[in-house]
Amino acid sequence: MKNNVLTEQILPEDLEILSLRPKYLNEYIGQEKVKEMMDIFIKAAKNRNEALDHVLLYGPPGLGKTTLANIIANEIGVNIKVTSGPSIERSGDLAVILTSLEPGDILFIDEIHRLPRIVEEILYPAMEDFVIDIIVGRDSTSKSIRVELPPFTLVGATTRFGDLSSPLRDRFGVVHKLEYYTTEELTLICKRTASIFETEIHEDALFEIARRSRGTPRITNRLFRRVRDFADVLNHGIVSKEMCELALNKLHIDEIGLDNKDYDYLRGIIDNFQGGPVGLESIAASIGEEATTIEDVYEPFLLQLGFIQRTPRGRVATDKAYKHLKKAHNERLF
Ligand code: ADE
Repeated sequence: MKNNVLTEQILPEDLEILSLRPKYLNEYIGQEKVKEMMDIFIKAAKNRNEALDHVLLYGPPGLGKTTLANIIANEIGVNIKVTSGPSIERSGDLAVILTSLEPGDILFIDEIHRLPRIVEEILYPAMEDFVIDIIVGRDSTSKSIRVELPPFTLVGATTRFGDLSSPLRDRFGVVHKLEYYTTEELTLICKRTASIFETEIHEDALFEIARRSRGTPRITNRLFRRVRDFADVLNHGIVSKEMCELALNKLHIDEIGLDNKDYDYLRGIIDNFQGGPVGLESIAASIGEEATTIEDVYEPFLLQLGFIQRTPRGRVATDKAYKHLKKAHNERLF
């Protein structure tokens, strides 16, 4: 097994933020429905002394799927092993991880839609009956050995629910979609972050960061750190609304959280393709961005804002997008 199969990829930028992650459900802000349901399922499993049913979390990046997986482990009081679909290349890699689990442990597989098919097939009996069938030997001498696993909980996360095969999807007893956060929830998350960092921040500054965070706590925390840099150098460390405006305008993040890439994308549709409909690959080529990044990162928020529509013939920019771009143009923000 490659020795990095179980190590989570962490950007140096995110190390600091990791220490901010809420550890228990009552510290986690937002996603009220998911929290309410998970609280019940966790308590029920604990009372029965059983492993929690397998959980699938899906939704756009940065909304807290990994955080929730860790919270589930903390709430139950078990270990969590973290891996991801693309880092498990062979069935043997997964077999090693599965056989190392202890009863009740959580196995978290991020980007589970990217598991290779043959690896995925090992998961089916593992999830359903807590067994795996390992093939030993070659050709005529090969045989299959059945290995029992301890009862465990698979927590899978994906940004692409539609890319999961139905046999895999059907094996999750609990399926939750994470939604974009409201500005009020992001304000509270920013307040919590500022207090952990012991940073003085004004109420209107919290709101300014929250409303530009495109519904995503990971972005709130990133923007907070950028604004804090400006405040440290220019304002004795005090995060005011003026510091937010200065920093975020310089970073080309507009008042609803759109950045240069969103503008490139929208202008690409409007200027190069007369507002659409245009296929994803054509937009991707015209702005020099990966189609998957556009689909997973940029489009979900623009869809949520109602700035684009997906039609059978391709993407279309809406009146709302035209109006917003015209306003930005008039204000000479970009
Ligand atoms: N930090 C990142 N996401 C959070 C959340 N949902 N609640 C509290 N703190 C967070």
